[in-house]
Amino acid sequence: MLGKAHIIAHDFVGDPLYKIRRLILRTEVAREAQPGQFVHVQVAKGMDPLLRRPISIADIQREAQEITLLYRIKGKGTEILSEAKVGEELSLMGPLGHGFTLPARGELILVAGGIGVFPLLPLAKAAQEKNLDVSLYWGGENKGFFTSSGLDLWQEARIPVFLSSMDGSIGEKGNVLDLLKKQVGSRLNHGEGATQAAQSEVLSVAVCGPQVMTQVVSDYFLQKGAAVEVSLEERMGCAVGACLGCVCTLKDKVSGRIYRGKVCKDGPVFKGEEVLWDYEG
Ligand SMILES: Cc1cc2nc3c(=O)[nH]c(=O)nc-3n(C[C@H](O)[C@H](O)[C@H](O)COP(=O)(O)OP(=O)(O)OC[C@H]3O[C@@H](n4cnc5c(N)ncnc54)[C@H](O)[C@@H]3O)c2cc1C
Ligand code: FES
Repeated sequence: MLGKAHIIAHDFVGDPLYKIRRLILRTEVAREAQPGQFVHVQVAKGMDPLLRRPISIADIQREAQEITLLYRIKGKGTEILSEAKVGEELSLMGPLGHGFTLPARGELILVAGGIGVFPLLPLAKAAQEKNLDVSLYWGGENKGFFTSSGLDLWQEARIPVFLSSMDGSIGEKGNVLDLLKKQVGSRLNHGEGATQAAQSEVLSVAVCGPQVMTQVVSDYFLQKGAAVEVSLEERMGCAVGACLGCVCTLKDKVSGRIYRGKVCKDGPVFKGEEVLWDYEG
């Protein structure tokens, strides 16, 4: 769980303007990692910052014992991490958290907002291996963002990708929910009124991105009767369920009981219908 990772590659993905870096690590984590899980990375060699930073596992190469992390330089921690050199070692905790469920059969729709796409590729590849019908709907700011965030990895894996960009420079102009309504909505409407159980057998949806987008997409597909999973993001301390730094509010589907969940341990992936997004109780 806690170990060293050897840095195999570390570079910008596409245009450095978008500040997205690819980090390939040789690590024991590759043996056990599952889609949707993350690692907790010690970014500084010294004590500042003291806290590790959570980063999703964006690709798993089990035979080579390697994982890929894709991260955006955001603040002090990721800025320091970006200076790590090939050949150096990083201290890593993982794989951590509860990941996505691979559906037994049917169609799997992946929905990403911005860099929320990073944890979805391992799930897409696992679905492909199982011969599921899998596709990605991905919203972002513009063409440069997509080409600098690993679009080529999806193309190499031959997974159908549908894009929406805010400026219309690639894919459909607008947000990802509009894209989904246009491309998927018409065939889902046939199923409206069907029982949840009947539709869940054929359509599963996995969502990751900014909270508002995740919520509206989750609500949209739940209302269509799909089985929805969402990956949540919270600031983290320990990442192993001990500090309560990452709580979210959940509702047990069967009993209706409202309780506090830990994003690091119970998640980051939850069932869409379990999450109480704006709970103020
Ligand atoms: C389970 C999980 C998986 C993640 N996977 C990835 C990934 O694959 N790639 C990636 O680029 N990022 C990912 N993140 C986010 C990443 O952990 C943060 O961007 C990083 O910790 C920021 O650290 P920093 O020191 O650079 O910035 P800081 O200086 O700590 O923060 C910079 C700014 O970002 C905000 N911020 C920091 N962390 C978070 C957070 N978790 N949620 C919301 N706001 C935050 C701060 O409030 C501040 O405004 C993930 C987060 C979680 C919880
Ligand atoms: S980060 Fe400590 S409980 Fe989740």
